[in-house]
Amino acid sequence: MGYRDLREWIDLVRATGEVRDVTGIGWEHDIGRVTEMVHHAPDGPAVLFDEVPGFPKGYRILVNAVATQRRLALTLGLPQDIERRELMDRFLELTESGMAIPPRVVKDGPVFENVLRGDQVDLMRFPTPLWHPDDGGRYIGTGCVDVMKDPDSDWVNCGTYRVMLHDKSRVGLYISPGKHGIQFRDKYYARNEPCPVAIVLGSDPLMFLASTVEVPQGVSEYDWVGGIKGEPYEVVKAPITGLPIPANAEIVIEGYIRKGHEAPEGPFGEWTGYYASGQRAEPVMDVQAIYHRNDPIMLGVPPQKPPWEPHKYREYLRSALLLRDMKNAGVPGVVDAMCYAIGGTRLIVAVSIEQRYAGHARQAGHIAAMCRAGAYLGRYTIVVDEDIDVSDINDVLWAMATRSDPERSLDIIHRAWSGPLDPAIHPSQKGHNSRLIIDACKPWEWRDQFPKSIGPDIKTKQETRREFGWILDGLQREAQAVAPAGPRDHRAPARPGAGKRLDDDHSM
Ligand SMILES: Cc1cc2nc3c(=O)[nH]c(=O)nc-3n(C[C@H](O)[C@H](O)[C@H](O)COP(=O)(O)O)c2cc1C
Repeated sequence: MGYRDLREWIDLVRATGEVRDVTGIGWEHDIGRVTEMVHHAPDGPAVLFDEVPGFPKGYRILVNAVATQRRLALTLGLPQDIERRELMDRFLELTESGMAIPPRVVKDGPVFENVLRGDQVDLMRFPTPLWHPDDGGRYIGTGCVDVMKDPDSDWVNCGTYRVMLHDKSRVGLYISPGKHGIQFRDKYYARNEPCPVAIVLGSDPLMFLASTVEVPQGVSEYDWVGGIKGEPYEVVKAPITGLPIPANAEIVIEGYIRKGHEAPEGPFGEWTGYYASGQRAEPVMDVQAIYHRNDPIMLGVPPQKPPWEPHKYREYLRSALLLRDMKNAGVPGVVDAMCYAIGGTRLIVAVSIEQRYAGHARQAGHIAAMCRAGAYLGRYTIVVDEDIDVSDINDVLWAMATRSDPERSLDIIHRAWSGPLDPAIHPSQKGHNSRLIIDACKPWEWRDQFPKSIGPDIKTKQETRREFGWILDGLQREAQAVAPAGPRDHRAPARPGAGKRLDDDHSM
């Protein structure tokens, strides 16, 4: 894999020229502003903030870590020039081969370089930014991994659930309905027992990715990451709760949430692009201990209007999982799937199929909308034929515009899984939403009479891009190079292939 922890990952990426070191920027406004800028810049760098005014040198925050296809590939241990579909297929291979490897429990780890307990607990020592101007507080946990255990079994779940600072020893947690964390929490609450939680505030990016995607039910993210790495993930036992925590984590906070112990949480800028869930009473965790490495690095992943960092990497991973779920549900002829970043990888999805029988397109649409990868906070599901390239939203919208007819092509599913974050649902009715299935396939009964499409098939388009893509890349590259100095020179490169791949340019 090439890295064991966040610092080794940063070293690897630094060697490709994709890390920017930024010092002296304040937590009050500027870290949030700069983060929004790099999240929305195409191929934006990872940024490591240090020397935040008011905090010790070395107390750092990394943002925009896994925001590009190259850095996602590096994180998964795959070649950095891998193409989209191959990346999805390789990712599924890595996760489907039943290779889950349980973590190795070790006695000690760098995470215990600094141990703060009781009165020493002070969360204000870390440079937590105010990420968005109208946030209800400073969110210390955005790129975090919340570790919890099922009280009825050995299942340890890692989920990214946001964490707001209340004061130096208390934080607020927001877990959406239906998530594993809330299922565990409610079991402890039903028994009137405190619910143990350990929150990792700087893990390696693979562990973070794992805690943000839908891994199979009952499988621990630790085992899943072990399977991808091909070796056990190293954990240590958190001294108070006994929960396993990454031995090489940067910062971990440990404590309990208790039934009825709540405080106002939010509003927070959310992945839908709104401060949608407002402020509500949410569980408070009393932090009993902090463990951190010397010169700790927090992973900051504050939401922005889509598409932003996680949407960019989740587009590949969630599309792959949707493909897997459809196949596992027994839908034949599924060719490709796409969970679009612009819909936060949830609100707009498309699947392409080779139509095999009457009703096949509707079956595919309903299952895509309701399987594990599609069920939570979906809205629009578009089913297209196999000649449509789902990775190109224009192609999908073209199919929708030309092959569907509203009176025969639409189905609505009522009362599906939504939650407080859904901006389109009235504040008093949050919980359910509806789904629109758009059957944008050629109508089964007269598909043979449907007009022939203009243009190359997907494979030919890809070959053309591979062979002649340098014509486009060359123009963009030259425009970038010339723009600040004077008039643009739009000539193609002198010889085919010169300046061929923007991917090779790590200088930005
Ligand atoms: C940056 C980021 C922040 C997230 N914040 C939350 C959150 O505050 N609450 C929540 O329930 N889900 C949040 N999610 C989504 C969950 O992490 C995701 O659905 C994950 O699969 C949940 O794990 P689980 O299925 O084991 O419950 C966030 C995802 C990302 C990428």
